[in-house]
Amino acid sequence: MENTVEQIRDEALAELEGVSEVAGIKDLSVKYLGRKGLVSLFLRNISSLPKEERPEAGNNANKVKNLLEKRFEETRVRLESGAADSGSGIDVSLPGRPSSSGVLHPISQINNQITDIFARLGFDIAEGPEVETDYYNFEALNFPKNHPARDMQDTFFISDDIVLRTHTSPLQIRIMEKEHPPIRVIMPGRVYRCDSDLTHTPMFHQVEGLVVDKDVSFSDLKGILTTLVHQIFDEEISLRFRPSFFPFTEPSAEVDILCVICRGKGCRVCSQTGWLEVLGSGMVHPAVFENVDYDTSRISGFAFGMGVERIAMLKYGIDDLRKFFENDFRFLGQF
Ligand code: DAH
Repeated sequence: MENTVEQIRDEALAELEGVSEVAGIKDLSVKYLGRKGLVSLFLRNISSLPKEERPEAGNNANKVKNLLEKRFEETRVRLESGAADSGSGIDVSLPGRPSSSGVLHPISQINNQITDIFARLGFDIAEGPEVETDYYNFEALNFPKNHPARDMQDTFFISDDIVLRTHTSPLQIRIMEKEHPPIRVIMPGRVYRCDSDLTHTPMFHQVEGLVVDKDVSFSDLKGILTTLVHQIFDEEISLRFRPSFFPFTEPSAEVDILCVICRGKGCRVCSQTGWLEVLGSGMVHPAVFENVDYDTSRISGFAFGMGVERIAMLKYGIDDLRKFFENDFRFLGQF
């Protein structure tokens, strides 16, 4: 025999060092371990050795065979998993797959837009509890106990006295209990009503507003809300103030915008009226001021409240409120 099995081993390992592609490993396997490979030939030739040398030679040759198998395999795994070469089937020069980035939920976008508009007008932002007492949610807002106006709200009662807030208006009371006029604040948050269909979900978002100062008048209310509606929708949109009723404001008005779909001609979306309601508002009722010990002879104020989902639906032309809550990225990604 020309080479000892150790020489074959050293040659194989030296060649392995230079291999940078998986295909190179296959070639080495054939050259050394294949049926006609150098190690196999060596093993086959052992029978020609003197009898006393055969066991040791056989033993050594098997050790070399096992060692090479192991090293070849290790190198193959390393080359396949590491992307550092071009022969592993991975083209490192290709651009990476882009990962899609998230977007703000349309409700968050509208919420941010509303808070930005009011921040520019000098309003503060406040938040408060979603689990409320009957007192803040109704009583202090001039809904007397057992007054039918409480039925307007499909309330989730936790106990006789504790409710999930049905609107953000209770924050008006909480703010006025803590602060003194002048007050200019908006209060965004989640509210809850036991109601579910195309245009109602059990949880939705409102933004409440409150302005209290000396000589605040209904024209201030009109000015602020006109600015708001124009900034959210567009400068040209017509709006109207329609007399309404809320227990905590007097006089009260609902604000409508000209229907964004038919531009006033009358369609299904606006129930043929040509107008769409966007928010409720009014001058703070004296009974509400008395509940927080404000002197009604010295101050006056106005309040307003709007549904964020409703504004988002009108602004983006969405016909099913539940889409906001299904977390379908194809829908949410459009905004
Ligand atoms: N809280 C009323 C609701 O949920 C909305 C509202 C109307 C709020 C008039 C106000 C307001 O502050 O003045 O339907």
